[in-house]
Formats: sequence, structure tokens, C-alpha cells
Amino acid sequence: MTNEGDIRRFRIRLERPEGTFTFDARSDEYLLYSMIDAGIETPYICEQGWCLACAARLVSGNVDRSDALTVYPQDAEAGFLLLCSTKPCSDLVLMLDERQTRRDMMQHRIEHNQLARAYPPGARLRFRRGRAKARVDACTRSATGTRTDEPATSAQMGLIGSKPK
Ligand code: FES
Repeated sequence: MTNEGDIRRFRIRLERPEGTFTFDARSDEYLLYSMIDAGIETPYICEQGWCLACAARLVSGNVDRSDALTVYPQDAEAGFLLLCSTKPCSDLVLMLDERQTRRDMMQHRIEHNQLARAYPPGARLRFRRGRAKARVDACTRSATGTRTDEPATSAQMGLIGSKPK
């Protein structure tokens, strides 16, 4: 881990069937975008944490999942996370099988009576959050107990002043 002011950088190890990848991730950015910046391809669709396209498993380390539109404690207990809406709080080891992990997470949610891939209220307006940065450093926020459930504004979600990707 390195520090640049309030921003920390963590080392992420990603284990995939085709091999192991290592990249750095900022504490204020979602893991999906750190992977893309590192040239690692991975599936994603909604970029808001509800479609499960970017599901991965956390093998070790600490993360903040609270920006996902669908967050269930059972997901964390089972080690699932959504790369598009999860920020690192430490060095991590992740596991991602593009063919299997999303199915496993969906099945896990069904088994726990959670809605798998349901459109959350307001999702159409928010479709594709994109690279919106964390509003507050996730790890600092959880340490200070600040509320985390306020909806993001259009500007924060990158919907104003930019064209959709
Ligand atoms: S891209 Fe939809 S949950 Fe991550």
C-alpha cells in the first residue's frame, strides 16, 4: 500500500482460470476501472452494482461494497463482490471466473431469497454510472460512521456534461 494524500493505492492480485494478474487500485475508484486501466478485460454492463455481470470473489483483504445498488450482507459472508461498485480498503486477492462466478452469485442470491438481477427503483435514470469517483473515501467513511445511502446526483454519476459511452 502507498499513500498520496488522502488517496491510497493497493496491490490487487486477480486469479482467473487463464492465469494470475496483478494491478494497482486506488482507494477512491471502483475495482472495475482499475482493472480496465491495467489492460485487464472483464465483463460489465450496468456499472451500478445490480446486474451481477462483474461478479468476483474476495479471497483476502477488505473492501467497501456499499456503493452497489444491491447490497446484501449474505453476499459479503459468501465472499462475493461486484467490481463496478466496490472499492479496495487493503491489498486484495480476488478470484474471477467469467463463466462461473456470476452464475454462482446469482444462485447464491436466489438461495437467500434476494432478488437476482432485479431492476432496483430508479435504475433506468441511473443506467451506467461510469467512472464516477467515490464521493467520500470508503474506508474513512466506514471508520467515521458517516451515512452511505444518499443517492448520487446526476453530476456525481457523470450523467451531466458527458455523452454516454
Ligand atoms: S456491471 Fe452490473 S453489477 Fe457490475
